[in-house]
Amino acid sequence: MAKDLSIEVNGIKFENPFLLGSGPPGTNAKVIAKSFDLGWGGVVCKTISLDASLVVNVAPRYGKFRSRESNEVVGFENIELISDRPFETWLDELTQLKKNYPNKVLVASIMEEGKRENWHEIVKRVQETGVDAFEMNLSCPHGMPERRMGLAMGEDPVRVEEVVGWVKEVSTIPVWAKMTPNVTHPQDSALAAVRAGVDGIAAINTILSVVGIDPKTLLPQPTVAGATVPGGYSGQAVRPIALRHVMEIAKAIPSDVTISGMGGIETGWDAAQFMLLGSSTVQVCTAAMLRGYKMIGELTEELLKFTVDHKFAHLRDCIGHSLPHFSTHAKLVEAQRQAKLDRKSNADNNWKGDIAKETSDLTATE
Ligand SMILES: Cc1cc2nc3c(=O)[nH]c(=O)nc-3n(C[C@H](O)[C@H](O)[C@H](O)COP(=O)(O)O)c2cc1C
Repeated sequence: MAKDLSIEVNGIKFENPFLLGSGPPGTNAKVIAKSFDLGWGGVVCKTISLDASLVVNVAPRYGKFRSRESNEVVGFENIELISDRPFETWLDELTQLKKNYPNKVLVASIMEEGKRENWHEIVKRVQETGVDAFEMNLSCPHGMPERRMGLAMGEDPVRVEEVVGWVKEVSTIPVWAKMTPNVTHPQDSALAAVRAGVDGIAAINTILSVVGIDPKTLLPQPTVAGATVPGGYSGQAVRPIALRHVMEIAKAIPSDVTISGMGGIETGWDAAQFMLLGSSTVQVCTAAMLRGYKMIGELTEELLKFTVDHKFAHLRDCIGHSLPHFSTHAKLVEAQRQAKLDRKSNADNNWKGDIAKETSDLTATE
């Protein structure tokens, strides 16, 4: 029976598979240290770039989608860009965090313009801080695509292969590529990253959305000086879409390329489902924003209980467990037809068996 949730991924030891996903929960050293203290296995920091002065955030930048019945927030839209904090500050903070928390996993989320020298510089300078891995943000859906960054790179497999290749040329630590869900075939970009030598795939980033319109002002939300842009949707409403993406990617990529799954994880069972479909680590962003960092206690308790209830000797044994049960529609039709035939033939056999038994019972009593 699994005694703990430890897991080794890309040669990195995680005390549990839960990371805070890149976003507000990992926005500076203070909150990252707090999350380590509370028991998160790792943190992916808010995405950083070389020149933060080019990043200008707006306010308000969040919109909530609520359940009609309970008023609970079930979906969350943001038009937040990557970190607007100076690169040098980030380098100092990442160095300090690794010194203070050598056994916690710190992943640097990085993004740059489509120039080889930019990616080389950011990788070389950030890896000197001692971070454990990189997550390349190839998937931010709003704002950054205007500079041909984020989603603009990630939706184009040719670009993905090129840019991941540049990072792999100089990286001395594992590299994950974070994928966009704003495509029909997520496996195309994932396979391009694999061709370039990526160590892991992270999925999903947020889904392009318009969260709603204010019923009084009739302005689309979130409104900044009378206008808005489509934003990135996250939270529990996106989980079924995220699971589909993770499943498609897991089925397509080689088994030694790992997956860090995310999108609407709020409970240990949510996390287990991402693992059953091929993730070896999981990330949580929106739920940590809505419920607070302390939720890690419940997440680990519930995931450990899942491994015990289903008799997995180790957490790693559940990874990909449910994947073989995805098929094609044509095969479902054939399997259904065969099952009907089997049921009929069983019923016929049972009927024949009943007749035979009745006959022999009669003979015995004569
Ligand atoms: C407010 C906000 C800011 C985010 N910023 C980033 C970011 O800087 N880099 C990144 O890779 N993903 C970013 N994300 C995406 C999350 O890391 C995650 O991929 C997505 O929200 C789905 O997971 P969730 O439902 O647990 O939030 C952000 C998400 C939110 C809600």
